[in-house]
Amino acid sequence: MSDTFDVRPAGPADTPLLASLRRAWVEEITEGPIDDSGFEERFDEWMLKEHEQRVTWLGYVDGEAAGMVNMLVFTRMPKPGQERSSRWGYLANFYVRREHRNSGLGTAMLTALTDHADDEGFVRVVLSPSDRSIPFYERGGFREAYDLMVRPQPTGRTQRRHSD
Ligand SMILES: CC(C)(COP(=O)(O)OP(=O)(O)OC[C@H]1O[C@@H](n2cnc3c(N)ncnc32)[C@H](O)[C@@H]1OP(=O)(O)O)[C@@H](O)C(=O)NCCC(=O)NCCS
Repeated sequence: MSDTFDVRPAGPADTPLLASLRRAWVEEITEGPIDDSGFEERFDEWMLKEHEQRVTWLGYVDGEAAGMVNMLVFTRMPKPGQERSSRWGYLANFYVRREHRNSGLGTAMLTALTDHADDEGFVRVVLSPSDRSIPFYERGGFREAYDLMVRPQPTGRTQRRHSD
């Protein structure tokens, strides 16, 4: 029998699930457990501060949480004569557990996110892809951008690059 996917917006009660996915992602990169008993509390505090301007989705396989993604919503400065400020989104923290990758869950989650952006009339969604994920995002309607600028951290102050 094939796996059943489900993609749902995350609510406040899902914070521990999101923290466990974040931990799984980082421990996948470090290839081992990280001894940091304060992480879950810091994650909680971060979610409390962030949730007003961030929409988060969880992806489930056969009822088990297997992935997450979120979109930080930028609301432009109000303009006189314009009832509602336009908005755009930054896609972040896209992760599907390794054992569930390449089965379409990520695509289902990306569709939920871009459908939301379209329904809300977002003028764009931006992201910073890894090389490996570029074809995935291209299939989801993203293209290379030449109309944004980036100022990297000055040389000499470079820290280890983390996933966003
Ligand atoms: C990117 C990611 C969320 C996609 O989820 P998924 O469930 O595997 O997605 P789908 O099954 O719908 O699509 C598979 C596509 O994902 C991309 N992908 C697969 N493994 C990947 C990996 N380890 N890292 C980045 N992208 C990956 C590929 O484009 C793949 O299709 P392709 O091999 O034909 O090019 C998932 O691979 C992942 O969590 N990767 C590790 C974390 C990461 O790189 N996050 C995004 C950084 S911008």
